[in-house]
Amino acid sequence: MAVALRALLRSAAGTALLPPPPRPLLGVRAYSAGAPFQYLSVQKTGAQQSVGLIQLNRPQALNALCDGLMEELSRVLEAMESDPQVGAIVITGSQKAFAAGADIKEMQNKTFQECYSGGFLAGWDKVSTVRKPIIAAVNGYALGGGCELAMMCDIIYAGEKAQFGQPEILLGTIPGAGGTQRLTRAVGKSLAMEMVLTGDRISAAEAKEAGLVSKVFPVEKLLDAAIACAEKIASNSKLVAAMAKESVNAAFETTLAEGLRTEKRIFYATFATDDRKEGMTAFVEKRKANFTDS
Ligand code: HXC
Repeated sequence: MAVALRALLRSAAGTALLPPPPRPLLGVRAYSAGAPFQYLSVQKTGAQQSVGLIQLNRPQALNALCDGLMEELSRVLEAMESDPQVGAIVITGSQKAFAAGADIKEMQNKTFQECYSGGFLAGWDKVSTVRKPIIAAVNGYALGGGCELAMMCDIIYAGEKAQFGQPEILLGTIPGAGGTQRLTRAVGKSLAMEMVLTGDRISAAEAKEAGLVSKVFPVEKLLDAAIACAEKIASNSKLVAAMAKESVNAAFETTLAEGLRTEKRIFYATFATDDRKEGMTAFVEKRKANFTDS
């Protein structure tokens, strides 16, 4: 990973060891066709620049997910979705906080009428509708909406000091962006109930044991590991990766029989792609596949 990026991430974490880079990173400009980002740092990274890296960057509020931040996140995800160079996306925060939840100060005086009529949080769905694989690299707090944001991603990698929780009950409300649904599917009823009803947090090790995260890393190694995983994903056919993601996600939406039918249809559909032909031909010819995402 570029030294400049490391410095940027450390400075946002409030534990700067190096000064921030002197000028905006190239990727920030590349994705700033609209207004520049206030709450995100964005760049393409990896040897082939095939990984879209998004860092939540609102350190003074522990990356609380205010409307502006979520609007920027939707915008950059849309840009990465249509960028043919990007094969996978990593969303991360700082070493102290992935995100400490939805912005409580923004929510404090909201009424039911405003929530209902205004479709409060409707824009959050963007994260879960992106076709490209997304990895959440979670250091520090992933609480409330922060935990829900991580769970909208396809893979969660955690730093060993990460803490996951759904503390909404302590605020007199309940999770509103998947915390009662995705968490229950990920860790089962008993632990999900315990977390949602008590507001207690679980550690990275507990999250790993419960199946919420797939791997745990030392804090400093987390981001590199997430980027390496994203690069590996991006080196495959982007088209077929999207089909694989769609098929896995079907497991959460339907019965086993219908899910298996969906899988079979998508499997058959891979035979309409150049990349399926290339992948199998490369195997037979004992060479590396040269996927063209077609
Ligand atoms: C707004 C927040 C915030 C949040 C922290 N801050 N979390 N602001 N919304 N969710 C702000 C604090 O007000 C403070 O700013 C600054 O960030 C640092 O926070 P501290 O509390 O001083 O830090 P610390 O003592 O280290 O405690 C860290 C913490 C605590 C344990 C994470 O901040 C905390 O409990 N935060 C709230 C976590 C939470 O309840 N999340 C769920 C939100 S509800 P100032 O300027 O005041 O000093 C939710 C609903 C989801 O997510 C519904 C669907 C999306």
